Amino acid sequence: MTTISPTMSHPQTENQGIEPTPVPLPMRVAIIGAGRGGTALLDVLHQIRTIQIVGIADQNPSAAGLKRAQELNVPVYDRVADLIKQQGLNLVMDVTGDPAMESVLQKEVPAGTDVVNGQTSRLLWLLVQHESTLQTELLHAEKLAGIGSFAAGIAHDMNNPLQLILGLAENLTDETDLEAVHLQARDIIDAVKRTTAICRDLTSYSRRSSLRQDCLISVNGKLDEALKIARYAVALQDIEIRKLYQPDVVVKGNPDELLHVFVNLITNAVQAMEHHGTLTLETKAMAAATQVCVSDTGSGIAPELLGRIFEPFFTTKPPGKGTGLGLYNIKNVIHHMNGTIGLESHVGRGSTFTLTFPGESGADERRTRP
Ligand SMILES: Nc1ncnc2c1ncn2[C@@H]1O[C@H](COP(=O)(O)OP(=O)(O)OP(=O)(O)O)[C@@H](O)[C@H]1O
Ligand SMILES: [Mg+2]
Repeated sequence: MTTISPTMSHPQTENQGIEPTPVPLPMRVAIIGAGRGGTALLDVLHQIRTIQIVGIADQNPSAAGLKRAQELNVPVYDRVADLIKQQGLNLVMDVTGDPAMESVLQKEVPAGTDVVNGQTSRLLWLLVQHESTLQTELLHAEKLAGIGSFAAGIAHDMNNPLQLILGLAENLTDETDLEAVHLQARDIIDAVKRTTAICRDLTSYSRRSSLRQDCLISVNGKLDEALKIARYAVALQDIEIRKLYQPDVVVKGNPDELLHVFVNLITNAVQAMEHHGTLTLETKAMAAATQVCVSDTGSGIAPELLGRIFEPFFTTKPPGKGTGLGLYNIKNVIHHMNGTIGLESHVGRGSTFTLTFPGESGADERRTRP
């Protein structure tokens, strides 16, 4: 299986007979300060495979960055001195904004290790914020572009209850039996509720993702919600849907972003089957990880394209049909959740995308949001 880990920007292609390129030694970086700046730096640097984060230090044990570091398996320190004495440090990034820290580092950082602080680290913080805003905007832009393809599905689903309402209302104009009037009025109310539910699903899907506030998400519930949304974009009537759900599977992340990931994977899978085949959704809660697999029996992906499909704007769809941003955004969201994406694909037989999230399966976790 090809796996994309948070530290890799492209899938490995070792099974495709391509010579691996030599990997340079990683740059060893220490982060001082685990507030907002330190957390954002951690998130960005963690995704770059040529960087190894040796540790992050903050004397405040409840600093947000320390918790994030633990999730990412980055060592945390409460004493700066303990962190900067680590062997072979190339760079110390001080994002505390504290002038006293500058003089401590000047004295204690060994020769040969560079220090970034003051205005330079402020500039870095601004760049990191800028890049995070761009990623969020791209996700939203792609979501809105996708919603264009929902039009036919929405029109179909709205038309049925509207036709029913019209028929019932026409009957009512000359209905004299009060009981029949009541019954038909109730049918009208149900039909209106159905159309309102469609509008509600779509309005909540199209809104901008809530700020990066992570919580525990019920994966099975999110997959079902995604199926409902994907129905508007792709015809599912001739697709057999198999759900192999383990109960109570949860992951930690942003619910809006995870919904978007699932909608994209399901849409891609159905498009690859050209509307005929089997879509399998599987969830597994294991001892140390949670897995979600989305499989299709569609076209599969040619080996020479495996390394490209996660690139921004890469698409094999005709102009106007796809943005090529779906998998790129999925990769970013999964990286943020510290997960990996595995892909197994056979041309003419289908593909399986496997998302793996480290950590407890959470079957016994409490604060689960739908
Ligand atoms: N399940 C799949 N089976 C076969 N090919 C796939 C599958 N998922 C993705 N691909 C390939 O990867 C390409 C990139 O997918 P991605 O979701 O990023 O963009 P897109 O689907 O082309 O455009 P958009 O998501 O905007 O509709 C697709 O064009 C397709 O060639
Ligand atoms: Mg897509």
